Amino acid sequence: MSDSENGLPDAGRRTFLWGAALATAVPILTEAGLAQARMAGGMGVPPVDAVLINANENPLGPSKAACEAIANIASQGGRYDRNDVQGQFIKTYAAQHGLKPENVAVYAGSGEPLHYTVLAYTSPTKSLVTADPSYESAMLAAKYAGAPIKKVPLTAACGHDVKAMVAADPSAGVLYICNPNNPTGTITPRADIIWALENKPAGSILLVDEAYIHLSDEQDVLDLVAAGKELIVLRTFSKVYGMAGIRCGLALGRPDLLAKLNEFGQNAMPITALAAAQASITDPDLVPSRKKIIGDIRVDTLSWLKSNGYKLIGESHSNCFMIDTGRDGHGVVEAMRAEKVYIGRIWPVWPQAVRITVGSADDMAKFKVAFKKVMDAKAVAAIDSTHTDPRAPIGVGGKTFLS
Ligand SMILES: Cc1ncc(COP(=O)(O)O)c(C=O)c1O
Repeated sequence: MSDSENGLPDAGRRTFLWGAALATAVPILTEAGLAQARMAGGMGVPPVDAVLINANENPLGPSKAACEAIANIASQGGRYDRNDVQGQFIKTYAAQHGLKPENVAVYAGSGEPLHYTVLAYTSPTKSLVTADPSYESAMLAAKYAGAPIKKVPLTAACGHDVKAMVAADPSAGVLYICNPNNPTGTITPRADIIWALENKPAGSILLVDEAYIHLSDEQDVLDLVAAGKELIVLRTFSKVYGMAGIRCGLALGRPDLLAKLNEFGQNAMPITALAAAQASITDPDLVPSRKKIIGDIRVDTLSWLKSNGYKLIGESHSNCFMIDTGRDGHGVVEAMRAEKVYIGRIWPVWPQAVRITVGSADDMAKFKVAFKKVMDAKAVAAIDSTHTDPRAPIGVGGKTFLS
């Protein structure tokens, strides 16, 4: 299967990173990279009045304090991090989460450590085990490592099927769990993650991607890092903190586990991103207030979709969710774009499902109008009556839902 068929951008349009330890270039796949690839691929820059709910960004953007911190530190940009902003940030973050500073590695987003973990711990004889659908970045890195990729379907509730993942390959190198999952926004219970950690193949690493954890009520697994277990946890400032374009992410783990990522390089962080991240984590109201704003808009949108008879897949606790459109998903994405509403991509395993990011209240009001128009139009694409998703849900008023 080519990358394009796999829903991934073509190699020629990717950002490349030249790791000293690697013979070939390694593409870092991020939502930003995908958006850039789409622009370069002919979609162009979206119009100014477009609704952008296609990349799981946060329309609230960086907090006021984060913007001020950027402005205040910008004039120091002629030097490297002369005042050790990075050290201060790491100390603060570690203290807030019961970790030691050596458990915390900072990157320009979590996409880099995600790739590096997979590159470091998989090989042609050590597979990547991932849920399907899930965030594809790990698969792309495994492909470059020449590692086998074992895709395991989600459970009926759209959590990770940890028993099937552990059983998928006794010589797995990395088990990747994205919690809440991208694209479904669904939760894998902490007890299942602990079970995977305790039962994973010897020598493998559990990679838990908590990019969206702040948006859910689920307890995180950083205590397992503090306890010295064999896992790496990823966090990003691109989601709840609204810093996707500013770039800051973290790999959290035992120092010996993190050391293997260093082989692929660790660029210096922009001091602006560090200052913004520091301001964000020292504001106690930021996460709860944003979680509430995004959660309320999600609940409103999902309830509108349900009451209009559209079919949701799983129960989202995040800033994205999936709709089974019952027709070719690409056609729906195109038709929505014609309405200037940019929605997310399609995962090959569910060709009729589209991912929607929770935008602002205004974004979602426009989404509702456009989506109804597109779904009411018969011409978008033929309805495929053969579509039989295993999560095929309970009937409600002639249409069906899971959530
Ligand atoms: C699950 C998940 N992990 C990691 C990333 C990488 O994000 P960033 O590199 O912006 O931190 C994303 C981006 O959307 C994501 O959805």
